[in-house]
Amino acid sequence: MGMQAKIDELLKKREQARLGGGEKRIDVQHEKGKMTARERIELLLDEGSFEEFDMFVSHRTIGFGLEKQQYLSDGVVTGYGTIDGRLVYVFSQDFTVFGGSLSEMFAQKIVKVMEKALKIGAPIIGINDSGGARIQEGVKSLGGYADIFQQNIMASGVVPQISAIFGPCAGGAVYSPALTDFTIMSKGSYMFVTGPKVVKTVTGETVTTEELGGAQVHATKSGVNHFVSEDEAEGLLLIRKILSYLPQNNMEDPPHKVCNDPIDRLEDTLNNIIPESANKPYNVKDVIFSIVDNGEFLEVQRQYAQNIVVGFATFNGSSVGIVANQPNYLAGVLDINASRKAARFVRFCDAFNIPIVTLVDVPGFLPGTTQEYGGIIIHGAKLLFAYGEATVPKITIILRKAYGGAYDVMSSKHLRGDINYSWPGAEIAVMGAKGAVEVLYSKELNAFTNPEERAKYSLEKEEEYKEKFANPYVAAKYGYIDDVIEPRNTRFRIIRALQMLSTKKDSNPPKKHSNLPL
Ligand code: HXC
Repeated sequence: MGMQAKIDELLKKREQARLGGGEKRIDVQHEKGKMTARERIELLLDEGSFEEFDMFVSHRTIGFGLEKQQYLSDGVVTGYGTIDGRLVYVFSQDFTVFGGSLSEMFAQKIVKVMEKALKIGAPIIGINDSGGARIQEGVKSLGGYADIFQQNIMASGVVPQISAIFGPCAGGAVYSPALTDFTIMSKGSYMFVTGPKVVKTVTGETVTTEELGGAQVHATKSGVNHFVSEDEAEGLLLIRKILSYLPQNNMEDPPHKVCNDPIDRLEDTLNNIIPESANKPYNVKDVIFSIVDNGEFLEVQRQYAQNIVVGFATFNGSSVGIVANQPNYLAGVLDINASRKAARFVRFCDAFNIPIVTLVDVPGFLPGTTQEYGGIIIHGAKLLFAYGEATVPKITIILRKAYGGAYDVMSSKHLRGDINYSWPGAEIAVMGAKGAVEVLYSKELNAFTNPEERAKYSLEKEEEYKEKFANPYVAAKYGYIDDVIEPRNTRFRIIRALQMLSTKKDSNPPKKHSNLPL
């Protein structure tokens, strides 16, 4: 065969590989409103930047007639490319080949790009659309999954890992996305450990795929999913957006963006954002939008545990993770889900050198048997642990309430908070005035026979208590608060603090790993 004929053969094989499971199945994929594995990669990466590996891989299974069904690439497209000019590794499961089901060789291809990503120090993006373990391959497929899980674990905290779910993701397959940092589900996709049929057999419960593990379910109820996208294109754009806040790996700082928003922009509205009445809510996102660069905030897990808000933004072009209690939802109380949500986010930021800005307005932990039986002690401890172990710059602003244990937990000075500021109306105390008076003056209060007199006495004592304890100056007196700041200055003060802290070095004692209260 002459060279030209060999080149022609190569081109033919490439053409064949690009067709995946064939035109018919590609049409079916499109009819479902889904893109093919390669179309997704094309849209995700910078134009023309994709370099593919292992196009000519195929499975090596005999039996079930599989030996006669050979598809080049074997159901997954892998390689590298760039996003905004920065290197990323990617794998994209191809549903047109055996339903994207995972074979031994399929797994080997994924492991190869993951190993490369880890060695070179670049993010890994996995696009999932698969019928799970390739049934005909049996335990080889299960082994393949576990090989991927092991790589996910090795990469955790070293390079960012992002999973998109653009179709089925069931059985043990869900554990690879679960081991990664962020999961994006497009509407219509689903994830579950056991599907509706098995659920029906085992528990008798009738449930649809959507109800059991749809994007919305995981965004609101389970918290497994971090972002819901309307469609695949929006999901791919989201991945690009997330990466814009992240460093390539844990040895680098996040990228610096050009900032044209003045650093000393005063926000007069913030001076009046806290309602006069202590129990009236306001939206903490209004505070976030007004202090970050250009009002841009990428919220993570927006629909889950809405009593705490977490997400990425920049201050003077530098990435930060923001954690904020949300007075608008359950009065911003800390409960099990809010603690877990914020703890995971804080640990992500710490692993990837992203400073944390914490906005505090918290009445305490949620009381009650549901929370106690659910283990609020251990889950609240996660957030406490996460803040205490974090060595990135930590800036905390108490906007209004910081009561009880929640004062300690929310990035207090005592947990190595670097800069702790407070707005002038802040209330920092062991508990709210009403509760405190009930405890401190119970004898006196019980002695009243006239309820009106009792209420009057209680109110007097509450006012006394508030004046004495429920203000920022007691904490400031002890240096727990570095300064009491004017609300409208908040943006400038945070930027100054971030600049000052940019060379911060801190560390934890050497250990194999901590024993985070899981
Ligand atoms: C081999 C599979 C497959 C699988 C689908 N296909 N799943 N082949 N192994 N797991 C094939 C089909 O035979 C079909 O081939 C093609 O992929 C498309 O599948 P359809 O069923 O036609 O598509 P659709 O109607 O869209 O349904 C998709 C589906 C369904 C819901 C995913 O295929 C399904 O239920 N598959 C089985 C899912 C499953 O039980 N997997 C094992 C889970 S256990 P043709 O040739 O007709 O196009 C597991 C354990 C992992 O994954 C453990 C890790 C630790």
